[in-house]
Amino acid sequence: MKPAITVLGTGRMGSALVHALLKAGHHTTVWNRTVEKTTPLVAAGATVARSVRAAVEASEIIIVNVTDYPATTALLRGDIAPALRGKLIVELTSGTPHSAREAGTWAVEHGVTYLDGAIMATPDFIGTEHGTILVSGARQAFDEGKDMFQALGGNVQHVGEDLGLANALDSALLALMWGALFGALQSMAVCRAENIDFSELARQWTATAPVVEGLVSDLIKRTAAGRLAADSETLSSISPHYSAFQHLVELMEVRKIDRTVVDGYDAIFRRAIAAGHLHDDFAALSQFTGKAG
Ligand SMILES: NC(=O)c1ccc[n+]([C@@H]2O[C@H](COP(=O)([O-])OP(=O)(O)OC[C@H]3O[C@@H](n4cnc5c(N)ncnc54)[C@H](OP(=O)(O)O)[C@@H]3O)[C@@H](O)[C@H]2O)c1
Repeated sequence: MKPAITVLGTGRMGSALVHALLKAGHHTTVWNRTVEKTTPLVAAGATVARSVRAAVEASEIIIVNVTDYPATTALLRGDIAPALRGKLIVELTSGTPHSAREAGTWAVEHGVTYLDGAIMATPDFIGTEHGTILVSGARQAFDEGKDMFQALGGNVQHVGEDLGLANALDSALLALMWGALFGALQSMAVCRAENIDFSELARQWTATAPVVEGLVSDLIKRTAAGRLAADSETLSSISPHYSAFQHLVELMEVRKIDRTVVDGYDAIFRRAIAAGHLHDDFAALSQFTGKAG
């Protein structure tokens, strides 16, 4: 028989988690501050708990998915703490590495097993083959929860025992994602100014996305290996990138497009070029985006 699970927090993501658990056959108890949001989940087979305490008492595994760690703290660190003793908390709320480690320390002090996860997906990916969740903490606890994790997504991975790892990777991957999303905002501003239909942009983006993916993978690989100087495998040195970048800046100036984002890129290019890296691999820029000061 599959273990019963409690989910605290049934917003957009929490609701998706509950649907996936129900679909996999887990008896699922839910609690949400705004009880109305649990109605569709009850219709799908979940049991609603009237209080956090009742929700915690209903299962040995408690998944938390609220807005932030202070919300989790407010829910679980008061009188409820003794009811959590011996249970497994899986924190899937987004947060920082240090908040995850701090929660882990609290859990040890209160006899609670604690895993910290980062959901690298939107709700529509939960319960599907491509649903990615990164989990850090004790390997044994992760293995014991395997059934439940498999229900949540086809790519749920244990990334290490250090509880901060999942959240650290989350921030790293989000930095990459926002690069793409803010880039898309710039692209749309250019298209709008130049009367290019967004459907055309969408088509060309799909066609060129594999090139971008290849460049990102190459950048990571070369930086990891410290291969910052140009060599026979260099796809592009800083020089042609900076020339093309200036075309973008010129277009933006002519069309009076906001430069807040690209000015940041410009500053990094300029620092690298001033330090003599114009003809090095693009990966040489990695020396100018690390620790500040
Ligand atoms: N949506 C995504 O695509 C996505 C992707 C990856 C990770 N996440 C993470 O998943 C978490 C939830 O995101 P979401 O998209 O589900 O957000 P959401 O729809 O805004 O839901 C937020 C949830 O947190 C609850 N909550 C907030 N403050 C609370 C408090 N002080 N006490 C008790 N409950 C509280 C809300 O309760 P009420 O209903 O009562 O307001 C609701 O259940 C966040 O950490 C988010 O970063 C989301």
